[in-house]
Amino acid sequence: MSSVSARGLEAGYGASRVIFGVDFEAPPRQITVIVGPNGGGKSTLLKAVFGLCTVHSGSITCGGREVAGMPPHRIAREGVAYLPQTDNVFSALTVRENLVMAGYALSKAERAERMPGALGAFPELQRYESGRASVLSGGQRQMLAMSMALLRRPAVMLFDEPTAGLSPKLAGQVLDNITSVRDRFGITVVLVEQNARRALGIADRAFLIAGGRRVFDGPPDGLLSNPDLGRMYLGLT
Ligand SMILES: Nc1ncnc2c1ncn2[C@@H]1O[C@H](COP(=O)(O)OP(=O)(O)OP(=O)(O)O)[C@@H](O)[C@H]1O
Ligand SMILES: [Mg+2]
Repeated sequence: MSSVSARGLEAGYGASRVIFGVDFEAPPRQITVIVGPNGGGKSTLLKAVFGLCTVHSGSITCGGREVAGMPPHRIAREGVAYLPQTDNVFSALTVRENLVMAGYALSKAERAERMPGALGAFPELQRYESGRASVLSGGQRQMLAMSMALLRRPAVMLFDEPTAGLSPKLAGQVLDNITSVRDRFGITVVLVEQNARRALGIADRAFLIAGGRRVFDGPPDGLLSNPDLGRMYLGLT
């Protein structure tokens, strides 16, 4: 069971602090959506979990194991996948080559066994198998990035604004894909999203961060129905 949790987390970049004493909990096999204003610390919280920024104090656990202070490749080995908003695929490589790269740590047999499933997860991608990733649309790129992550059979997936820049239709597809990742593989999902209302629609749990501090943590309905929080932090009316 892979929950992600942080206790008393203080984190930032070098000497600068961005996250102040945050307690965070993403229950296993659920989708936890992190929302909040620009610069509030959403990406930094995600990066802290994956070892990509400085943790000044506090604890971070994935599946019960302390990961604070570990480098990203060790955290990846703990079963955590991190999908950044951009630069998440190798543009010059084909779709198939991207998947081969993603599976470099697997044995040849494992790769051969998992490849069809990784490609088949998104039928739309299959058509582009031998085409370069540079010709994929934003949504297709997200699908490829997700397939690459799934090849490693992660227990936890961290998404940073996977729908940014996509049309409402494609954004909806990406969120559907994330829901199916939870349902089909029982993956624990932490999802940072700009569009609060849409993302909270698929959330099991909501977390609002502003000014590097936790403002709300609880059921998505509780956040959507709170007029003050919605208006002050999320532009909801
Ligand atoms: N690499 C970095 N070095 C120094 N400061 C940074 C770095 N990245 C972000 N920050 C600062 O940390 C604060 C929080 O940024 P963060 O990227 O976590 O916000 P965010 O909630 O993800 O915002 P957005 O919605 O715009 O993506 C900001 O004040 C930002 O300037
Ligand atoms: Mg961000």
